[in-house]
Amino acid sequence: MKLKVEHFYSPDKKRIYNQWLFSLIAAEYGSISQILSFGMDRYWKQDLIKNLSVLEPVVILDCACGTGDLSIMLSTKFSTSKILAIDLSHKMLKRLVHRLKPFHAVSVVLADVCNMPVPHSCCDLVTGGYVLRNAPDLKGFLFSVYNVLKPGGQAAFLDFSKYSNSLLHQIQYVLLWIWGGFWGLLLHRNPQVYGYIAESLKVFPDEKMLETLMIDAGFESVATRKYLFGMIAIVFCRKPI
Ligand SMILES: C[S@@+](CC[C@H](N)C(=O)[O-])C[C@H]1O[C@@H](n2cnc3c(N)ncnc32)[C@H](O)[C@@H]1O
Repeated sequence: MKLKVEHFYSPDKKRIYNQWLFSLIAAEYGSISQILSFGMDRYWKQDLIKNLSVLEPVVILDCACGTGDLSIMLSTKFSTSKILAIDLSHKMLKRLVHRLKPFHAVSVVLADVCNMPVPHSCCDLVTGGYVLRNAPDLKGFLFSVYNVLKPGGQAAFLDFSKYSNSLLHQIQYVLLWIWGGFWGLLLHRNPQVYGYIAESLKVFPDEKMLETLMIDAGFESVATRKYLFGMIAIVFCRKPI
């Protein structure tokens, strides 16, 4: 499928494109995420878990869980928690299921992050690796997360961060296109497959706008940890009590 600008502006088209894209790359996702991040993806995810402030979450929702890195790390750290892992791609979820051990309390559901199969105010913690850029409708997604969190519950999202400075963003865009395009060309003869990362960031809010969107959705204590010269960020936020 050819990536078009309209894929980013229509939630339905973005959902269809993402379903196609992530099913295409599901088999290689585990290795390519390490290659593209120079092996740092695992470390960022561990850091997300390490810096959570919730103590004993009963229910955790991992949004756009993919092959389940965060779900599995969460289940290891919080062995008594129930974890619900949702994703749009059946192939990604299949890989997650294969990785699960009997002691991992992870339930896997095929679902859209903008239409979560979760009751109001039932989660102590919501996480997401690279979900913010991929959500068909970012504002709608943030409201849904707010809605499913218990008062006092925490959310934590790892994703690329867009520089507020337009020159820095241009540099970031070119670097990501070259790096992603190279791997897309090599593995799929299609630079857009991983060039998608750069394109999706182009229409993503910058770091300040993202914080404003989170506050507008009702969250408080929005705090960001940055990595890789500010190109990657983990955003933590809380639903007020
Ligand atoms: C870059 S992968 C990240 C996977 C995993 N969270 C991680 O950090 O490794 C993005 C994931 O988002 C999923 N995704 C994209 N759009 C989605 C949607 N609307 N609802 C649920 N999952 C979605 C894809 O299927 C894919 O597994």
